Amino acid sequence: MNGLSAKGSVASPAEGKKPAFGVYVHWPFCLSKCPYCDFNSHVRHQAIDEARFARAFEREIAATAARVPGRQVSSIFLGGGTPSLMQPQTVAMILDAIGKHWTVASDVEVTLEANPTSVEANRFAGYRLAGVNRVSLGVQALDDGALKSLGRLHSAREALDAVRIARAAFDRTSFDLIYARPEQTPERWAAELKLAIAETAEHLSLYQLTIEMDTPFFGLHALGKLKIPDEALARALYDVTQEVCARHGLPAYEISNHARPGAECRHNLVYWRGDEYAGIGPGAHGRLDINGVRHATATEKRPEAWLMRVEAGSHGIITDDPLNREERADEFLLMGLRLAEGIDPRRYEALAGRALDPRRVALLREEGAIAIDDDGRLRVTASGFPVLDAVVADLAA
Ligand SMILES: C[S@@+](CC[C@H](N)C(=O)[O-])C[C@H]1O[C@@H](n2cnc3c(N)ncnc32)[C@H](O)[C@@H]1O
Ligand code: SF4
Repeated sequence: MNGLSAKGSVASPAEGKKPAFGVYVHWPFCLSKCPYCDFNSHVRHQAIDEARFARAFEREIAATAARVPGRQVSSIFLGGGTPSLMQPQTVAMILDAIGKHWTVASDVEVTLEANPTSVEANRFAGYRLAGVNRVSLGVQALDDGALKSLGRLHSAREALDAVRIARAAFDRTSFDLIYARPEQTPERWAAELKLAIAETAEHLSLYQLTIEMDTPFFGLHALGKLKIPDEALARALYDVTQEVCARHGLPAYEISNHARPGAECRHNLVYWRGDEYAGIGPGAHGRLDINGVRHATATEKRPEAWLMRVEAGSHGIITDDPLNREERADEFLLMGLRLAEGIDPRRYEALAGRALDPRRVALLREEGAIAIDDDGRLRVTASGFPVLDAVVADLAA
C-alpha cells in the first residue's frame, strides 16, 4: 500500500469505473471518554496488545473478503475511538491485509481519524508511509473554555498545531467541530468557523451537539445542569454554519459535511450513496451484497470479546441480516437525502419495486422542501434540510 496517493476528485459511478467499495476499520480505544460521546470507544489502563489486534483484523479481513471476493477497494476509513493511538506499524498491517485480500484502486482514499494532540501528530509521517493519504482531526472547538467543558485533552493551540502538521504531511485533511454547545452565540460561532476555514484546506465536518443517552451529558442535561441552545438558537447556529461555509467556498455536500468542490470524503459518500462496504473491527457495521441480496452486518462491540471471537473463529460478526426490498429502499432514501446531490428516484423505484408516492412528492415540492432537477434527481432544498427527518419520513411512508 505504500506510496498510494489520492487525487481528490469525487468518483461517481461512471461508465467503465468499478463500483465504489469501502472498507471501514474500527479502533475502539481512547485515552479518556468524552462526556458527550456514545461511540464504541473504551479506555484501558493497561497496554493494549496491538500486534494481537492487528492479527485479528487480518483474520476478519480475510474472512470478509472470502464472502465478497473480487471487489476493488475505492476507500478505506480507519475510525474510532481514536485510531491515532495505533502505532503506524499496526496501520500498515491492516492496510497490507486489505491489499492482500482485495484489489485496491490506484486512487484509493485512505482516511485515518486522529485526535489533535502533539503525541499523535508525531505519528503522521509514519501513517503516511503506511499508506494513509487523508487525515480527519477531531478538533471539536477552537475555544479553550469550550474544549474543557467538552472534556477534551487538548487546547485550541495544540489542535491548530496538529492541523498544520497534518496539512504538511497530507494533501487531504479535514477536521470536525461540534456546535450548538452550551453558551454558544451565532456571532462567536461565526468567528470560530472563519478561523477554522482559514486553517483548513478543503473539508470540515460540523456536527450539532447531540445529547446521547447513557452519557454524562445526558445526566447533566436531565438535571438542568447543562443548558444547550433551544430550537430557535440551534436553528440560528445552523444557518450561520451554512452561510459562512458557502461564502468561503465550502458548501455543504451533506447535512453536516462541507467541502471545496472535489474534496468531498469519498468514503462517506459510499454510505450516503448506498454503495457496498465492509465493516471490520469491534462494533463495525457493513453492507455486503451476497448473491444479489444486501446484508446488513455488525460485529461484537466489546473489544476483548470481539478479539476472542475472531481468534476462535474467523470473524466477529454477530448480526447478518438480509435486507428485503422495502428496507433496502428506505435505507437508500434515508442516506441519499442527506446529500445535497439527492437521489435518483429511478434507483429508488428499482430497489423498492414501486415509485415514490407522486402526491407526497408534489406536496413536498409545493412546500419548497424538495426539488426535482432537470436530470430527474430529487433533492432536499436549503429550507428542507433543517426538517430533513420529517421530509424523509414523509417520502418513505
Ligand atoms: C468517532 S468521533 C471522533 C474521532 C476522535 N476520537 C476525536 O474525538 O477526535 C467522530 C466525531 O463525532 C463527533 N461527535 C461525537 N459525539 C458527538 C455528539 N454527541 N454530538 C455531536 N457530535 C459528536 C465529534 O465531532 C467527533 O470528532
Ligand atoms: S469523541 Fe473521540 S476521543 Fe472522545 S470518547 Fe468519542 S471517540 Fe473517544
